[in-house]
Amino acid sequence: MSFAWPGKAPFYSIDLGVGRAKNAAMAKPLLIVAFAPSPNTVRLRDAVVEGARESEIEVNVRSPFDTGPADVLAAGAVILGTTENLGYMSGALKDFFDRSYYACLEETQGLAYALYVRAGHDGTGTCRGVKTITTGLRWRAVHEPLICRGDFVENFAAQCRDLGRLMAAGLEAGIF
Ligand SMILES: Cc1cc2nc3c(=O)[nH]c(=O)nc-3n(C[C@H](O)[C@H](O)[C@H](O)COP(=O)(O)O)c2cc1C
Repeated sequence: MSFAWPGKAPFYSIDLGVGRAKNAAMAKPLLIVAFAPSPNTVRLRDAVVEGARESEIEVNVRSPFDTGPADVLAAGAVILGTTENLGYMSGALKDFFDRSYYACLEETQGLAYALYVRAGHDGTGTCRGVKTITTGLRWRAVHEPLICRGDFVENFAAQCRDLGRLMAAGLEAGIF
């Protein structure tokens, strides 16, 4: 009677794990700058973080009020999250950009980013406003803006989780 491992799966898995850990160790952190003023927006932010933490990438989650240029300069990619208020991004996210724009301008060109917006009924003004600023910064949108529009539904959280997962995976794989 002979005994054999079921294929090479155990060794293959170990190799993959070491490779991922190595990539993650070399990659810069994923910065998540999320304004979350309500239970629903906290859910969206937490879903993004949950998706991102499926990778081995370091994840830096901050309120826009607590984020500054140093966090951006250290980041390998950024996810921006905001509510739409009065047809524009939240004052919190705008404040972050106001404080960070010139300190980042020469240093972060090409930085990969993605945006999600929680909007009661629109979201387009926020996307336009963020696009104007990130175009000035020469950041690189690597995902279509995700607009969670209208009455809150469970699927918003799933979409946010996917966004976090995708951004972290891209960073971990060295795509960004
Ligand atoms: C002062 C104020 C202004 C708002 N302006 C807009 C707006 O211009 N466009 C929009 O789609 N939603 C608007 N909203 C809705 C918010 O985006 C929404 O309530 C917020 O994202 C929180 O989502 P939640 O109610 O699911 O927690 C506004 C809300 C407030 C309180």
